[in-house]
Amino acid sequence: MTSPKHFLDLDRFSGQELHDILDIGTSLKQGESLNGESKPLAGKMLAMIFEKPSTRTRVSFEVGMRQLGGDAVVLEPSGTQLGRGETVADTARVLSRYVDAIMIRTTREDILLEMAEYATVPVINGLTDRTHPCQLMADVMTFEEHRGGIKDKVITWSGDGNNMATSWIHAATRFGFELRLACPEILNPPQDVLDWAEREGGKIVVTPDVEAAVDGADCIVTDTWVSMGDDDGTTRHNVLRGYQVDDRLMSLAKPDAIFMHCLPAHRGDEVTASVIDGPQSVIWDEAENRLHAQKGILYWCLAK
Ligand code: CP
Ligand code: NVA
Repeated sequence: MTSPKHFLDLDRFSGQELHDILDIGTSLKQGESLNGESKPLAGKMLAMIFEKPSTRTRVSFEVGMRQLGGDAVVLEPSGTQLGRGETVADTARVLSRYVDAIMIRTTREDILLEMAEYATVPVINGLTDRTHPCQLMADVMTFEEHRGGIKDKVITWSGDGNNMATSWIHAATRFGFELRLACPEILNPPQDVLDWAEREGGKIVVTPDVEAAVDGADCIVTDTWVSMGDDDGTTRHNVLRGYQVDDRLMSLAKPDAIFMHCLPAHRGDEVTASVIDGPQSVIWDEAENRLHAQKGILYWCLAK
């Protein structure tokens, strides 16, 4: 039996494969039919498991499945036997008998990997403590819509070296852009991810100096200072205060630089209202592109 086409993390794909998936999403966004089929996933069912809250991921996957002719069912672990200790492996095997793909947002990466190991249908990573690849697909799509090809451009991350930062490192390495991560040293991205990027030829700079990092950037991106599951909010606010994206920081980037944020945002913490609601911000396009990029992913995972 051939193994399912999982979408687990960007580091498992080549840049060309990722662009091919984005091209599917862009074609669908432009209203083109694929292989003459307007409902290419007719009859297909996606199960979505959420161990953490979600607005965008939940709605964009459900709407995306329906627009492609399929449907989706949501499982909250507290209402399933997973919440009472049924193993991930058994859940994966059972769900694979009912549905055509599984999207999981989970607290721990090993749960995602166990799901993928035992599922006989594609598994999609809807965010873990370590990565958020679907968001990065939407982010690259958004950047390229506004600023053209992302290869060799300069993106600056300001803030926590968290799950989004790790997926940005994967994306930079695979899509071939320069990524500068401005982080307080105690919140640097994981060293194993930086080592991987170096081995793979990624252009990654990590520095505590945010002003140097934004100099001449094509895009500044940030994320919440306290991710779901973090329990050290006060410390994080203290060490991240100097990493807020404000008008002065934006002015150090290129004049046509854009601002991105995966949302949800906290105005006055990681970004000022003047920036996130200002003319350089593309956050609503970015949120919309979750739908289009994920339709590309769903089609890639599921279409014949
Ligand atoms: N950006 C993102 O994944 O949003 P949700 O947590 O609302 O799904
Ligand atoms: N880093 C954030 C991303 C939310 C989409 C979190 O994990 O909470």
